[in-house]
Amino acid sequence: MSRPILAIETSCDETAAAVIGRTTDPARPWTILSSIVASQTDIHREWGGVVPELASRQHVRDICGVVEAALDEAGVVAADLSAVAVTRGPGLVGSLLVGVAFAKAFAWARGLPVVPVHHLAGHIESLVLAHGELPLPAAVLVVSGGHTSLYFIPEPGRYQLVGRTRDDAAGEAYDKVAKLLGLGYPGGPVIDRVAREGNDRAYDFPVARLTHADRNAPQPTAPDGLLPADVARRVDFSFSGLKTAVLRLVRELSGAPPWGKAADADALGAGLTPQQIADIAASFQRVVVTVLLDRTFEAARWLGARSVGISGGVSANSRLRAEADARAGRYEIPVFVPPLSLSTDNAAMIGAAAMRQLELGATGGDYGFNAEAGLAL
Ligand code: KG4
Ligand code: ZN
Repeated sequence: MSRPILAIETSCDETAAAVIGRTTDPARPWTILSSIVASQTDIHREWGGVVPELASRQHVRDICGVVEAALDEAGVVAADLSAVAVTRGPGLVGSLLVGVAFAKAFAWARGLPVVPVHHLAGHIESLVLAHGELPLPAAVLVVSGGHTSLYFIPEPGRYQLVGRTRDDAAGEAYDKVAKLLGLGYPGGPVIDRVAREGNDRAYDFPVARLTHADRNAPQPTAPDGLLPADVARRVDFSFSGLKTAVLRLVRELSGAPPWGKAADADALGAGLTPQQIADIAASFQRVVVTVLLDRTFEAARWLGARSVGISGGVSANSRLRAEADARAGRYEIPVFVPPLSLSTDNAAMIGAAAMRQLELGATGGDYGFNAEAGLAL
């Protein structure tokens, strides 16, 4: 095995470091030697969401220890490494800066190259890290707290955007609905759990149909005509209407006036019974999962994909996983989802995406890049 790389991820509220090695098996090219994640959830829970300033300060506190732990667990020292990989963006700029500055300093002191990585390339390559090379072309949905984006992958390392959310990300909708129901932060795991006790047909929430261009319609994502225009619009996503529908229902059920201040909405869940909360969670989740899978599989069919991948924090969702599996059988197309440890943010996936770039000719010789909150893939 050639020399391993150290990878660092600090785009949001997890400080993560991993050591990734290269194998001699082209079908399963990379292996995880260690992966350490220090989560800041307990700090941000008190505030109901990630507080950027607190996040960057905590990254500063944690990064040295997390990197040391990753090297120790892998049984390597800095001299064994061949490169350092780091998330350049997108994410919270103060958080990203900690990882980027640390990676550059660590690498410069040891004469190592630094490979800047796009966070979503990391989520996509987490699938290859876990399962080996996907049958290509592939349709991969990255569904996280910040993104809901569908990519076409015609060849290794080429990511073509074919659909994305026009407003909220799916994970963001989970987090906001959980807050509204008084379930705390982060919302995804708790809605996933509470929904198991609920009736997913109790409430009929609307599905946003994007059959026409509206003012939020993004620029065409596939200028070379990957998808016909009407299909391209259909495979976009929108979750803000669903979130508002949940808010209206919660106001109605809790006897609150229909139009209050948005800030008051956070307390509304207190007026509901546990069964009502479970029913709302289950009904909300049914719509989110159905929309995500309907559109991903429709795009996959149009694109002639030979496999479907689903990654990012929301891919940890138990209902999404079960229904994705069921559709794999129904549509006779293999579906890949990362193990839970690689679904939510981690540095191993950043190492995998860097390995991909190095294989495609990146040298990591340029230290001139900086953290970029809105980096495009
Ligand atoms: O990928 P990730 O860790 O960070 C971003 O890049 O955003 O994704 C975090 C998101 C959060 O919105 C969280 O609520 C959601 O993933 N999430 C889930 C589950 N676990 C985490 N959503 C639904 N079901 C879950 N089990
Ligand atoms: Zn992420």
